[in-house]
Amino acid sequence: MSSIAAVVLAAGAGTRMKSAKYKVMHEIGGRPMISHLLETVGTLSPEKVVVVTSPDMQSVQETVAPAEIAIQQTAEGTGHAVASALDKLAGATGDVLILYGDTPLITSETLSRMIEKRRETANTAAVVLGFEPEDPAEYGRLVADDTGRLSAIVEFADADEQTRAIGLCNSGVMAISAEHISGLVKAIGNENAKGEYYLTDIVEIANKKGLTCAYVKGDEKELLGVNNRIQLAEAEQAVQAIWRQRAMEQGVTLIDPASVWFSHDTKLGKDVVIEPNVFFGANVEVADNVRIKANCHLEGTRIGDGAQVGPFARLRPGADLAKGVKVGNFVEVKKASIEAGAKVSHLSYIGDARVGTGANVGAGTITCNYDGYDKFHTDIGAGAFIGSNSALVAPVKIGEGAIVGAGSTISKDVPADALGIERSQELQKSGWAARFRSLKKKITK
Ligand code: UD1
Ligand code: MG
Repeated sequence: MSSIAAVVLAAGAGTRMKSAKYKVMHEIGGRPMISHLLETVGTLSPEKVVVVTSPDMQSVQETVAPAEIAIQQTAEGTGHAVASALDKLAGATGDVLILYGDTPLITSETLSRMIEKRRETANTAAVVLGFEPEDPAEYGRLVADDTGRLSAIVEFADADEQTRAIGLCNSGVMAISAEHISGLVKAIGNENAKGEYYLTDIVEIANKKGLTCAYVKGDEKELLGVNNRIQLAEAEQAVQAIWRQRAMEQGVTLIDPASVWFSHDTKLGKDVVIEPNVFFGANVEVADNVRIKANCHLEGTRIGDGAQVGPFARLRPGADLAKGVKVGNFVEVKKASIEAGAKVSHLSYIGDARVGTGANVGAGTITCNYDGYDKFHTDIGAGAFIGSNSALVAPVKIGEGAIVGAGSTISKDVPADALGIERSQELQKSGWAARFRSLKKKITK
């Protein structure tokens, strides 16, 4: 199979996002939309990927590495953008895919179909991905004959009534023969309604040269272009729907799929049950047989086999839960390893800590890890029992099997098997309450 190169156009300003961030940097499923596209392109093993940006788009250039960058000095149209990448394509053989950075949902199956079609005959200069949107709006129109031969793409601004009545539209995605791309693109002019160099003109140019062009049809859902925040939310929904389905196909139970939000890198084992309203931030790995109860927020977290999390738990980066751990309601864990079978069941903050195997951390326990300047570590030994409402002032170590009395503020290490307790002496005055009440009754009479 001959090779594939890909050119991703991303130099457009994206003004409708109303954002200080470049359009293609807006995130879908926790990563920039252009990264979705590059992952899809990557599955075709391209020899070369070139991203066209404007000179100032440093964040985009960094994000797309190791793709090559072609700089388009001024945005003078899609044809001009591809012309900016021609230098980088010198020596390419096979096919060049042209993609838009703001059309991130396209699948590799569709791209492969286009390449297959392009390779049917050597005379096919370009294959365009067409679609029939519910509302053709201002898309360019494909002018084709019954045999599927494409004679022109007419931009909406340049189209007459008859052409505007065509339902078959240009998605913008093309597969162009590497042999012909340079000659075709260099022949594009800018005498049109917008005064831009339209890439779409290569269809007519190819036909004039005695080459042919064709189209394949794609699904509107894959071709959603993100131009504003509303379309960004639509793209997010579309991606999440795919990921939810994939999770269920792979043996995960989602009680209410629509309320579970994944990240592009979420990894889930088998027989995981996820209750409603769970949000996965970046970098979460969940082993088999885990139950994540309702209303949890997780990021940068490992959850071991058979663990139970939530409801209402927050697992932050560096939370590492081993086998059989229980982290219950209103518990926040950050940069802490909770070892096998340990329990932190209610209302706790565990940060910069280790909770040893089988330890039990009582309700309301706080690891006081921060003095306003630095972070310090708390180490809780295996089998230790931390009484409710304890404050463990780090750096501090609770030895194996030690017990901390409820309500203690512990700032000294507690040796193994010892009791650490910090409380003022409890006072009891017999009959005091009864005397208090009778006194109050007399006063109010
Ligand atoms: C383009 C097509 C139109 C198609 C539509 C589909 C042309 C002339 N028209 O129109 O037929 O129906 O897409 O969405 O190709 N870009 C650059 N540099 C530029 C101009 C654009 O990199 O100078 C990039 C943009 O960042 C974007 C893509 O090219 O990713 C498309 O540009 P856009 O201006 O949105 O093209 P449309 O006018 O929508
Ligand atoms: Mg557009």
